[in-house]
Amino acid sequence: MSLFLKIFNLVEFKNFCAKIWKSSYSETNFLSVLLLTLHMPKNLSELSGRKGTERNLFEALGKAAENSGTLSKEQMKELSEEFLFGKGNIYGATSFYDFLREENKGKKVYVCNGSACLVAGTQDTVKKKLNSHFEESEVGEMCCLGRCHENKAFWYNGFNYSGNDIDQIENLISNPKVEIQANDKYEVGCSGSAILTANQIKAEEYVAHLKKWLVLSSDEVLTQIKESGLRGRGGAGFPSAFKLEACAKAVGDKKFIVCNADEGDPGAYSDRYILEHQPYKLIIGMIMAGYVAGANTGVIYIRGEYPESVLITEVAIAELTHVGCIGENILNTGFSFHFKVIKAQGAYICGEETALLNSIEGQRPEVRVRPPYPAQQGLFNRPTVVSNVETLACIPFILENGGAHFASIGRGRSTGTKLVSLDGFFNRPGIYEVDMGTPLSQVVEDLGQGFRSPVKALHIGGPLGGLLPVSKIKELSIDFESFNEGGFLLGHASVVSIPADFPIISYLEHLFAFTAHESCGKCFPCRIGSTRGKEMIQKAQKDEYVIDRKLFNDLLETMEIGSLCALGGGVPLPIKNALRYFDEELKQYFSAN
Ligand SMILES: Cc1cc2nc3c(=O)[nH]c(=O)nc-3n(C[C@H](O)[C@H](O)[C@H](O)COP(=O)(O)O)c2cc1C
Ligand code: SF4
Repeated sequence: MSLFLKIFNLVEFKNFCAKIWKSSYSETNFLSVLLLTLHMPKNLSELSGRKGTERNLFEALGKAAENSGTLSKEQMKELSEEFLFGKGNIYGATSFYDFLREENKGKKVYVCNGSACLVAGTQDTVKKKLNSHFEESEVGEMCCLGRCHENKAFWYNGFNYSGNDIDQIENLISNPKVEIQANDKYEVGCSGSAILTANQIKAEEYVAHLKKWLVLSSDEVLTQIKESGLRGRGGAGFPSAFKLEACAKAVGDKKFIVCNADEGDPGAYSDRYILEHQPYKLIIGMIMAGYVAGANTGVIYIRGEYPESVLITEVAIAELTHVGCIGENILNTGFSFHFKVIKAQGAYICGEETALLNSIEGQRPEVRVRPPYPAQQGLFNRPTVVSNVETLACIPFILENGGAHFASIGRGRSTGTKLVSLDGFFNRPGIYEVDMGTPLSQVVEDLGQGFRSPVKALHIGGPLGGLLPVSKIKELSIDFESFNEGGFLLGHASVVSIPADFPIISYLEHLFAFTAHESCGKCFPCRIGSTRGKEMIQKAQKDEYVIDRKLFNDLLETMEIGSLCALGGGVPLPIKNALRYFDEELKQYFSAN
């Protein structure tokens, strides 16, 4: 028993139980509680699933907080009774999210604090201008609004603004915006095959496509996806056909396709581009994924920081429903598929697929231990495929042109194209679609047309992606293998440029602070490690304190190998990159060895 507890890092929990139970403590009752605790989230999944996707607990939590910015005790009690969740479970979920927790009460406007806006140095001015119209307590923070192409981003009254919008704040307050078009403009370009950036066809044109595809057997559709070599664009690059096949084979009275549209990586706005400008590709891709996996329901989980994306996607679903592409017995093919859009409430970790499933269920979004994998036991304990927006949006092209054609684009095992998002430091920021294998230098110099001011590093692939000095640009190409071999990570291929005058130590502080804020808290290395890392770096900048390099390396190693998911496990990568490539700048903060 002691060895078991040691292996599973439960000694601390056992001692805690012994302390509170005092004389009644025994290892047997400890084990019973432990097993019950581990089993409880599964029961909550069942309870949450009783009402299906129609009356959804997470959505109800969001609606309840709409007016005041948080939930009252009465509202929490009512929801706990309706959904048969414990009050503690409801409080546990509510207190997790940026836009539901008590501290959010009364917020009227939010300033973006994502990496791109931070390094652009625009947000102090935005805050100052907002503070002259709002009480300080009414101004909150959001991370990130995906306006990395022009910065100065803020959220007001249900819409996002950026660039010069802040200069119009008085006007925005007196004439609140009502239309739902995405109001920002950025360059959209392509070098190679236009799969995701080709003009979106009309909703009616998908009728003919679906009539053709839904008479194929699901195995035939799966074969095309297999042949395409499509790999997940959400970060891990996992073969998509494998997940679809696993879900198809899993036993379940109901199955789900969940679209991960929680694009939380600061610097990334390519999923936002698809949701707002190419939503039919995603929606049709989900229908066909459902056809393969045997799922009849698609859930699109969109981050709350993208209000326009939520509205535009809902309109697109209504348009495709109107022409008969969505619903019962689609176009008399015998296949039915329904959609649910869920607006998230501000938590980066909900991009991790199992935290996302807990979130939809209204549970505290802690990462789940795998196995079982979502394809076996996912949403409401039912077989589920969780896939990224960009991945799913490739499926219509694959079916129209054949898997082999998709596989012929790209390089090696990285087939197809990749969307890359460039931030405001480029002369031509925007979304660019490139064939996998395209040299990074081509993206930087030809598509982005270089930098508008000196830049020393690029942070590619979100907070967990690699931090590369600009000298590395010529060595890399946009594909999974090139980045892995170079000691970096392609991730979602978002690019945040670190200007020459921005201290790398401040960027490391930002990364630790981000991780500490977003950690789900389930495992110690990430929960405690990210906070200790942040403290060390803060102290080194303020006090006569030199970071013990060995201790710091131990911390990074513990996080890397001991964390349950790639948040705690991934953030050491950019930090190690910085220590390696920016040693000259950083060594004043660290001991020699
Ligand atoms: C901390 C963390 C955040 C993540 N955020 C996202 C995200 O915003 N969008 C996404 O698609 N995948 C994200 N992922 C990856 C998902 O867990 C999952 O691998 C992905 O949604 C699977 O889809 P794909 O196979 O199409 O890539 C994240 C993973 C981690 C560990
Ligand atoms: S690494 Fe962080 S986010 Fe991931 S499970 Fe552990 S505490 Fe949660």
